[in-house]
Amino acid sequence: MDKLVISGPTRLKGEVTISGAKNAAVAILPATLLIEGVCRIENLPNISDVKMYCKILETLGAKITWLSEHEIEIDSSNISCTQASIDLTSKFRASYYLLGSLLGRCGQAEVGLPGGCNLGARPIDQHIKAFEALGAKVEVAQGKITAKVKRLIGTSIYMDIVSVGATINAILAAVLADGTTTIDNAAKEPHIVDVANFLNTMGADIRGAGTDVIKINGVKKLHGNTSYSVVPDQIEAGTFMLAAVASKGDITIKNCIPEHLDCITAKIVEIGGTVEDYGDSIRVYMNKRPTKATVKTLPYPGYPTDLQPQMGVVLSMANGTSMIHESIWESRFQYTAELNKMGAKITAQGKSAVFEGVSELTGAPIYATDLRAGAALIIAGIVAHGDTQLYNIDHIDRGYENIEEKFRKLGANIQRVVE
Ligand code: UD1
Repeated sequence: MDKLVISGPTRLKGEVTISGAKNAAVAILPATLLIEGVCRIENLPNISDVKMYCKILETLGAKITWLSEHEIEIDSSNISCTQASIDLTSKFRASYYLLGSLLGRCGQAEVGLPGGCNLGARPIDQHIKAFEALGAKVEVAQGKITAKVKRLIGTSIYMDIVSVGATINAILAAVLADGTTTIDNAAKEPHIVDVANFLNTMGADIRGAGTDVIKINGVKKLHGNTSYSVVPDQIEAGTFMLAAVASKGDITIKNCIPEHLDCITAKIVEIGGTVEDYGDSIRVYMNKRPTKATVKTLPYPGYPTDLQPQMGVVLSMANGTSMIHESIWESRFQYTAELNKMGAKITAQGKSAVFEGVSELTGAPIYATDLRAGAALIIAGIVAHGDTQLYNIDHIDRGYENIEEKFRKLGANIQRVVE
């Protein structure tokens, strides 16, 4: 089992380049199944979730050629199978996008009930509601979901809750349906816009992505023969922004879209940091102890749940007592027990946590409890006095490319140890 050994404290300084977005990549990859032809995807992050998705697509009949570390060509001309490996698909959450894309392409799909980070109950009722509204019959039994339809027919879908996954799955299923589909109360995250842009580049007719009403005019075929570059990762950029603040450092974050980061920038400025916008890069610096704050996670453009643990590290060392309300995932405070081992004073109960700011953290053996918690605990190790051993880092490798290398270039003393 690999671990990260981090010696701190370090003030992070320098430049970091952001990779393609994990959450967009794991939706664009299954979306390629809708294309009867070849397409090229650039700026793919080199992370284990992407490699796992490529493996699954190959088992379904897609031909994948790696052109470079971040670029692939996918030929989905011959999709021979609609039953995805239960073993592989039940390992991660985004495998449920195979339902929308296989249903759209072949009229049937079988996928293992999705796994992924343990963030509390992760229902899929809105996905099922969307497929059924389009005419599919959906069954959940024996650890898998099966969906079948003769012909998908465009319709109106009202999402009872703002869900990124269900919005993307409804788009995937509707792209090749007969007629027009309208999704009301759709999620607006940047990766939803990116999936829609990808599909439109391949010949789809999706309008309104990024607003809460998305309209999809069904088309007969997606043509492929085009390349598409994945959007920069909002969450990776936000992670380095908060690392700059926590470490009282100065980081220039290149290859990002500052507009996607507005909600994080606003909070950083509120707690005393400075953010400078240079169009396709930003500089974040901090030279004092952050002030206390109240943060509530919300769907985009609100403060993202995926940057809640990283903000938790910052607030654990703020001047005064802060509050975080987690409105998306009920079990997203597991990392606070690890931070408390490092001297933080956090009381988490249900969907809220109180952070009594301490002046410093100290190194300790700690465990990454999920992907974003893992990234937050790396930041904690970098700012803490002494040595930290961070275990369970396979969670982090799922979604961050070369994370220890990127932090090392910013001055962190961080090593991966293979045990
Ligand atoms: C969510 C986050 C996304 C983040 C990801 C991993 C939001 C809106 N979404 O996306 O930013 O990257 O977690 O942390 O912030 N829900 C239902 N029924 C469903 C689907 C979802 O009740 O069928 C609920 C969930 O329990 C959750 C909320 O809706 O409370 C948002 O879920 P959803 O956006 O679908 O989750 P992800 O797509 O995983």
